[in-house]
Amino acid sequence: MTEKTILLTDLRYPTHVPVIPKQLLPANGQLIDTLARPLHDLRISVTDRCNFRCVYCMPKDVFGKDYPFLPHSSLLSFEEIERLARLFIAHGVEKIRLTGGEPLLRKNVEKLIEMLARLRTRTGGPLDLTLTTNGALLARKAQSLKDAGLRRVTVSLDGMDDAIFRRMNDVDFPVADVLEGIEIARQVGLGPIKVNMVVKRGTNDHEIVPMARHFHGTDIIVRFIEFMDVGTSNGWRMDEVLPSSEVVERIHAELPLVPLGPNYPGETAQRWRYADGGGEIGAISSVTRAFCGTCTRARLSTEGKLYLCLFADSGFDLRTLLRDGHSDEEITAAIGHIWHQRTDRYSAQRASGAGPASAPRDKVEMSYIGG
Ligand code: GTP
Ligand code: 5AD
Ligand code: SF4
Ligand code: SF4
Repeated sequence: MTEKTILLTDLRYPTHVPVIPKQLLPANGQLIDTLARPLHDLRISVTDRCNFRCVYCMPKDVFGKDYPFLPHSSLLSFEEIERLARLFIAHGVEKIRLTGGEPLLRKNVEKLIEMLARLRTRTGGPLDLTLTTNGALLARKAQSLKDAGLRRVTVSLDGMDDAIFRRMNDVDFPVADVLEGIEIARQVGLGPIKVNMVVKRGTNDHEIVPMARHFHGTDIIVRFIEFMDVGTSNGWRMDEVLPSSEVVERIHAELPLVPLGPNYPGETAQRWRYADGGGEIGAISSVTRAFCGTCTRARLSTEGKLYLCLFADSGFDLRTLLRDGHSDEEITAAIGHIWHQRTDRYSAQRASGAGPASAPRDKVEMSYIGG
């Protein structure tokens, strides 16, 4: 695993600031970064481990049995996660997504969900509390997740064909078990359910239309994701990216589509509905149509480092602040400083061939930072 730490003392800002200076806050009190992007969405990775070895994320030759996963003592405790979540909410966060690795592998994750479900946004409403899972444990856990207060789930699924699916997850996991997990999640009310399919040209792109057909006529939203150059170990090549425009064309040829506007500013997916009323799909085009301009997402790693971009090579060590006994006010101020100086826009720079995207770097792995 490649990841570096930035200590707050490395920043130009003082570490011990009791309150956020007024000039960091716009009139409505919402913190913004250097590109005027508010902090809206916190993605918390609760484990760097996974029971799948998806070829585009945790290739077996890199994530083998000797891979140095984080020791238990490094992980943030549930109390530490809940405390940080509360402090992020003070800055305007309204959506929290638990990620991994595979978040359902974290022991007693339902307990954490219960703790987070009690939190309220700054305006007093409930959080949009959700989770991204590979679905392997979903049939077994859907009811307890719902009971704990989880509102919805997003399930990764890279094909309908069992042989292709087994090859993509690379642990011979059957597609039927994930489909059963999705169905049970739907029955217990963890909707709207989204299904994420990463499309690799030449590997699973012939599964696009079967996936669309399978979920057509249901309230499950499939989102087709362009294969991305996250981390350094997935062997990414541009010629394996199938542009979303082609994905949409292929589906449209079989099941006519009509474009829809975004649900909220900064949504990752562009949305389409079926002309016949059979539901909707999304396309996440991080390679061919970067959405950095409206990126309001912060990522907290399993060991408490704050990352400002999926393609970052270093994070800010909040765990040290927690364990060194800093007050809520100090840590809130530190988060404010970090966000306020944020400049990240990796995908946009990749598209223009400039900036950090043009040089090789030790980017963090997706399994470490969460998707
Ligand atoms: P909703 O709230 O359901 O709209 O979810 P979301 O789209 O914010 O999150 P989700 O985890 O479902 O995102 C789907 C996929 O989009 C992820 O697995 C990533 O592959 C990709 N993605 C999400 N956020 C970002 C981002 O900030 N940058 C890039 N480049 N890709 C992202
Ligand atoms: N490109 C695009 N999406 C990816 N994911 C993981 N690795 C990649 C990649 N290289 C997505 C998976 C899953 C989520 C955790 O991240 O689809 O839904
Ligand atoms: Fe595991 Fe998700 Fe990565 Fe697949 S994409 S290896 S399920 S963390
Ligand atoms: Fe946000 Fe970085 Fe993704 Fe751009 S590349 S949308 S800045 S996470």
